[in-house]
Amino acid sequence: MKIIIADNYIHLSEIAAGIITKTIIEKPDAVLGLATGTSPIGTYKKLIDFYENGLVSFKNVHTVNLDEYVGLNEKHAQSYHYFMHDIFFDHIDIKQKNIHIPCGLGDDLEKNCREYNEILLKHPRDIQLLGIGSNGHIGFNEPSTPFKSFTHIVELTERTRHDNSRLFGFGDSVPKQAITMGIVSICHAKKILILASGAGKADAVYNMVQGDVTEECPASILQLHNDAVLVVDKEAASKLDESAISQSD
Ligand code: GLP
Repeated sequence: MKIIIADNYIHLSEIAAGIITKTIIEKPDAVLGLATGTSPIGTYKKLIDFYENGLVSFKNVHTVNLDEYVGLNEKHAQSYHYFMHDIFFDHIDIKQKNIHIPCGLGDDLEKNCREYNEILLKHPRDIQLLGIGSNGHIGFNEPSTPFKSFTHIVELTERTRHDNSRLFGFGDSVPKQAITMGIVSICHAKKILILASGAGKADAVYNMVQGDVTEECPASILQLHNDAVLVVDKEAASKLDESAISQSD
């Protein structure tokens, strides 16, 4: 895994947006795997900035998102559909038909999973953007998720529900389930770009980079990917050994 230490969150976002922009310039119809959460917000802002300044266009880009809560419709302010449009898609020239986000609604969620797997097969990703949960989850693949998983429904852990509750208003509880791209699908991306910021991520970053490759830390599988790039600020990198940073290629 290549590790890039950023000075701060703004710097981290500039680096990540630069990597994604390079992917699109080299391949204007690139498929981007996208993530939600607070970690990529600065990256999306920077990409909008690049778009507004004519440095990049998304008109032939396709996107596939990692995950969505079960039971929230796309107008719900905490749904990942809403987040992606509000933070990113509404500000760039992407075609609506090129946007794919898993659907957590309806009576047959297994069917939604199968349909999303089909979409992923048709859209092999050039780059997959990822955040990391404080317990090492990627997408919504919680600890103990089999590494061999495809799109599936998950029961969210109390820790994840607690972490994510800061984004929900009073009286609005975090859903107990989500639909997520599986670990196999995540690892199929040609390049993986992981973002981590803040001291609260330091343990998860350590376990991802220097811990054992184990289903107990889903992100640890990324040690085996041949083009994974971690962009991390100093706080989130604070538990990494110097040797792990200097040996990263
Ligand atoms: C959620 C998302 C993940 C994200 C994680 C970390 O659980 N499903 O994809 O990586 O939150 O979020 P944040 O970047 O806000 O710390």
